[in-house]
Amino acid sequence: AMAVFVTRRIPAEGLRVLSQAGGCRVQQWDSEEPVPRAELLAGVAGKRGLLCLLTDRIDREVLEAAGPSLKVISTMSVGFDHLALDEIKKRGIRVGYTPDVLTDATAELSVALLLATCRRLPEAVEQVKNGGWTTWKPLWMCGYGLSDSTVGIIGLGRIGQAIARRLKPFGVKKFLYTGSRPKPENAAEFEAEFVPLSRLAEESDFVVVTCALTPATQGMCNKDFFARMKKTAVFINTSRGAVVNQEDLYDALAHGQIAAAGLDVTTPEPLPTDHPLLSLKNCVILPHIGSATYATRSTMAVLAANNLLAGLRGEPMPQELQL
Ligand code: NDP
Ligand code: DGY
Repeated sequence: AMAVFVTRRIPAEGLRVLSQAGGCRVQQWDSEEPVPRAELLAGVAGKRGLLCLLTDRIDREVLEAAGPSLKVISTMSVGFDHLALDEIKKRGIRVGYTPDVLTDATAELSVALLLATCRRLPEAVEQVKNGGWTTWKPLWMCGYGLSDSTVGIIGLGRIGQAIARRLKPFGVKKFLYTGSRPKPENAAEFEAEFVPLSRLAEESDFVVVTCALTPATQGMCNKDFFARMKKTAVFINTSRGAVVNQEDLYDALAHGQIAAAGLDVTTPEPLPTDHPLLSLKNCVILPHIGSATYATRSTMAVLAANNLLAGLRGEPMPQELQL
């Protein structure tokens, strides 16, 4: 039997795919909480396959602990910044991931976060509960709307496009985007204009970050970036926390350099409950729930399981990352 290690309790549908497959012996860290590092290192030893999550850092240490038997890594995520791809490639290990199946759920959550942030929903709900709602007031609880706005998307990939598609009917006037190169085939639907990052910062009323975390995007939204943004602009990040320099974001929010920020991702995760960003009224923070619908998580688990099985059998994976 081909031995595999599964690093967490995953939706039952995913595990069922593995248990029903002939010739696959599953060892699992069957917990809601991440596998402790020592258990991960012990668990992968001698395995042929690894099904992991974005909370597991798969680096040289893990690969060495696994040994030469390891042939396939399947991550139940579209993001792969937690995988040391150069080390993985060197060892000839194949990698599966979960693009597309979470695009709709993540785009939906991104729009929800954007609206919650620009129309100040968490703050407003709090006012109802704490007696701050005394009467209807013309200048109270005002925010910024999408009508006639310019939306700048950093990384017009699968999720970035799905967000633009959802935002367009709100009356957005202009879409801008940035990335490593212009993508006219993706931009045409939104008549989106490819601009340098600096121009995107300067002209956008809403900045939405949906790029992958790479050495090039790490810390990209920094002091200089926030300084270029409009005082009335809203910043949304649903990619990875490390794309943002959080100290610079804090300063920009605290000093009114930008209007508000909505973050589904932070560094670290979880964000400590005494983190300065949590003291700001104009910062809405969610606990990395972009893909968190029952249906999506189940589909992600099934895809991750099928990627793993295909890899173990030496067949083409439903979704293989090209290394
Ligand atoms: P895609 O690969 O389709 O899109 C990623 C985009 O990032 C590409 O369009 C790419 O553009 C862009 N990009 C790469 N380098 C740069 C750069 N230097 N500057 C600007 N843009 C850049 O991936 P998805 O849309 O499927 O997912 C995007 C990311 O979202 C994932 O990597 C993951 O980290 C995150 N995510 C978060 C979720 C959550 O729960 N909050 C859920 C799902 C995903 P180009 O091709 O031009 O380089
Ligand atoms: C991913 O898949 O990369 C997300 O962050 C979680 O679904």
